[in-house]
Amino acid sequence: MKHFLNLIDLTRDELHGLLSNAAQHKAAHAQGTEPRSLAGRVVALIFEKPSLRTRVSFESGIAQLGGTSLYLPGNEVGLGWRETLADFARTISNYVDLLVLRVYQHATLEGLARYASVPIINGLSDWSHPCQGLADLLTVRELFGNEKGRTVAFVGDGNNVARSLAVGCGKLGINFILACPEGYGFDDKFKADYCRRVSRHFPKEVNNPAQAVKKADVIYTDVWTSMGQEAEREERLRRFAGFQVNSKLLAKAPKHVKVLHCLPAHRGEEITDEVMDGPACVAFQQAANRLHAQKAIMEWLLT
Ligand code: CP
Repeated sequence: MKHFLNLIDLTRDELHGLLSNAAQHKAAHAQGTEPRSLAGRVVALIFEKPSLRTRVSFESGIAQLGGTSLYLPGNEVGLGWRETLADFARTISNYVDLLVLRVYQHATLEGLARYASVPIINGLSDWSHPCQGLADLLTVRELFGNEKGRTVAFVGDGNNVARSLAVGCGKLGINFILACPEGYGFDDKFKADYCRRVSRHFPKEVNNPAQAVKKADVIYTDVWTSMGQEAEREERLRRFAGFQVNSKLLAKAPKHVKVLHCLPAHRGEEITDEVMDGPACVAFQQAANRLHAQKAIMEWLLT
């Protein structure tokens, strides 16, 4: 059973294939010639956390490809507490063709994947956000044509989004550099996985954002306090204070630099209005690409 839980599980060729298919979907969507490749298929979206982009882009994408989606809040189906994950996975596999899950714990996905007889897509976990990562790579490809040799500077937390993007960049030959406060970089488990399965050359980490963006083609940022970390908010605001993506930081980057943000943005914290609404920011092109990237993922798993 093929699942889409982490970008690290994909080969380089599979990643290139998904990006090509996503670009084809985007062109077909613009021309109104999309295939009905999910006709007769039912996809369940089981979300333990709120979402705008992931939920709506999946539901719209499924409808546009002729399929049907079911949105099931995690607390309504009792994911992990009403019955065992194994019983849940075995049961729901009889009713639907594909599962998209947004979960607190990545272990929930791994537990379900062991017992489900239909594919599972990770719609965000505490460990990774591979749908976001694929849309990010599609955006970088659109911006620069050939992404190989480009440099992405991630200014912020070494979180799930940063891990997925770092892996995708590593697989496609994009330089990735993380600028974060001391103690908020990549953890040892990720380092070990990356070095074993992506490259022996682990991405550079620095504590100085200006140094990170000096040669950047892309500056990427994300919220400093992710869902589930609300208790750490005050401490994080203090620690990340020097890591805001603002005009002063952009002035230290090459003139052609583009700014990406996975959204939602906390304007005035990790990014200023001036940058979000300025000409360098492509966050809404990036958000649009979620739709096309995810169509490619669903087709790869189902057809
Ligand atoms: N970037 C992202 O996953 O957005 P949502 O949390 O709104 O789905």
